[in-house]
Amino acid sequence: MINVITASKIIKDGGVVIFPTETVYGIGANCFDEDAVRKIFDIKGRPNDNPLICHISSFEMLPDLVDEEFFKTYKNKIEKLCNAFWPGPLSLVVKKSAKVPDVVTANLDTVAIRMPNHHLALELIKRAGVPISAPSANISGRPSTTREIDVLSEFKGKVPNILVDDSLINKSTYVGIESTVLDITKEPTVLRQGAVSASQISNVLGTNVLSKAESEKPMSPGQKYKHYSPNAKVILILTDDVQSEFIKQVSKYGAHQYFLTIDEGEHKEKAKTLYADFRDADRQGKTKIIVILKESKDPFFLPLLDRITRASK
Ligand code: TXA
Ligand code: MG
Repeated sequence: MINVITASKIIKDGGVVIFPTETVYGIGANCFDEDAVRKIFDIKGRPNDNPLICHISSFEMLPDLVDEEFFKTYKNKIEKLCNAFWPGPLSLVVKKSAKVPDVVTANLDTVAIRMPNHHLALELIKRAGVPISAPSANISGRPSTTREIDVLSEFKGKVPNILVDDSLINKSTYVGIESTVLDITKEPTVLRQGAVSASQISNVLGTNVLSKAESEKPMSPGQKYKHYSPNAKVILILTDDVQSEFIKQVSKYGAHQYFLTIDEGEHKEKAKTLYADFRDADRQGKTKIIVILKESKDPFFLPLLDRITRASK
């Protein structure tokens, strides 16, 4: 465990640091240091065609990351979105500047950027003085980490540099699922659902916003990979009546399995602990996790549906 001053020095020296954000823990390096960024791919076992999000602590960091022409043309849109949602769980896909190494963006000409809403993440980036490229802190294909205990068990011995938030001991990060990824290089399109919903974005922009399902390819490159999967098999039951479905499923699978019910009004709270639940089930040696999810207009319904569906594949 390290403090934020040490962590920022490690980033400056080309090292890798695990740090908390409001969504999930990230594993980060200096965005402009190719060798440092490559270490992240190695540690995670991440396919190199899956680009990383660059985390910034101030708007002044944007011009180094965004193509100048694009920035001029889209300034109004970018400003509206940043003012409304940053710091917070929205990653913006924009045209990248030449300064951003190809390893970060998996050779795409776009880059995803966000300003996390967590004091330690912001202080880390500020002290390091550079944007920090960071995917979620988990071995590729596994659930993201949202608690210190999960970070430690995922990376024990592999990454000594872990920055922890003492106020989060035994608790999950505030949001619990990864940021919304919004591509604004074309008609605004949500590539990954998160805490910021398409309709919130639509309200701010005053235009239609597509969601991945309606949009055409290409989607977020990362979306094609196996994701969020615990060792236990995840079974998703979508329902209008959580309680009666629960009784049905217990008699079908047996009470010894890991059951997770998400009823009306619970979507946000249970999104926060979803990955912690997945990992607890594994720790308890469960072979099945049965998630009974209430179909709902709740803004967290779609992100939950997305994560659980893909965890179940
Ligand atoms: O909440 C989060 O977003 C967390 C915290 C640490 O910030 N990060 C995170 O990173 O979830 P990661 O790497 O696990 O997921 C990033 C997603 C992937 O699906 C990736 O394909 C997509 O964002 N992405 C990144 N750059 C992109 C780009 N230029 N175009 C389209 N999708 C991109
Ligand atoms: Mg991830």
